[in-house]
Amino acid sequence: MEKMADEFLTRADYTQSARFVATHTKHQPKIGMILGSGLNPLADEIAQADIISYRDIPGFPVSTVQGHTGELVIGNLNGKSVIAMRGRAHFYEGYSMQRITLPIRVMRTLGVETLIVTNAAGGVNVNYRAGDLMLITDHINFVGMTGLNPLRGPNDDSLGPRFPDMTNAYDPILRALTKQVAADAKIQLHEGVYVMLSGPSFESPADVNFIRMIGADAVGMSTVSEVIVARHGGMRVLGVSLISNSLAHAHELVSHEEVLAAGKAAVPQFTALIKGVMARM
Ligand code: HPA
Repeated sequence: MEKMADEFLTRADYTQSARFVATHTKHQPKIGMILGSGLNPLADEIAQADIISYRDIPGFPVSTVQGHTGELVIGNLNGKSVIAMRGRAHFYEGYSMQRITLPIRVMRTLGVETLIVTNAAGGVNVNYRAGDLMLITDHINFVGMTGLNPLRGPNDDSLGPRFPDMTNAYDPILRALTKQVAADAKIQLHEGVYVMLSGPSFESPADVNFIRMIGADAVGMSTVSEVIVARHGGMRVLGVSLISNSLAHAHELVSHEEVLAAGKAAVPQFTALIKGVMARM
């Protein structure tokens, strides 16, 4: 019964978490951000910040992974009021799909209309190198295809439709804007498809071949379930991957340290890109 309760959360759960956040900040952000592995220094740029630890928020999933700090940073970034997640919890840590996507519902409850999702991802496209940035144009919900969809269970029609559309899940206008910002700032930006696998083991060479064949350019262990919940709730979504390692040039072993190090090196470009987008949103 406990398990069922964790799998199928309700509006009451989201409201309880959202109320806690609302009473601990003076801001009313309309833009939400999820900062993935190694990318959370962007949150340092947020001014007049109210910082709330995930641990203190009722029902909030707490990440146990190094590089995922686990706090909400709510304040102003380039003139816009934002709520940023410094780190996220993942499915592989043992949480249910609904639990890892609770923060999206909480942001929606707080009035967030646009979600910027970021992650570190392995490059499957042979043209990608460690440290590159990729604008997500679409995703492959690989874990969802096997039944692990965050929308599985009773649908609350007041949160969103039973069968939400996933065409243009990554907002075409935000994508165009991001490409323009990248071009103006001379930041190289690939465009590609992101596939979510559950992890935590990295991909075998045969996995990588398979992933490339099905049309993915980058692979990671997050994001897709978050985007599905965001779209279910009618949020506009922008997705950016940091290619932290290349899986296309085989025989190189992948490590979490490498993922974090690539994040560190790419942070200036990543920060410039996101701040540029903010300024023009
Ligand atoms: N595979 C899966 N997830 C990842 C990778 C990878 O190579 N790098 C960063 N996240």
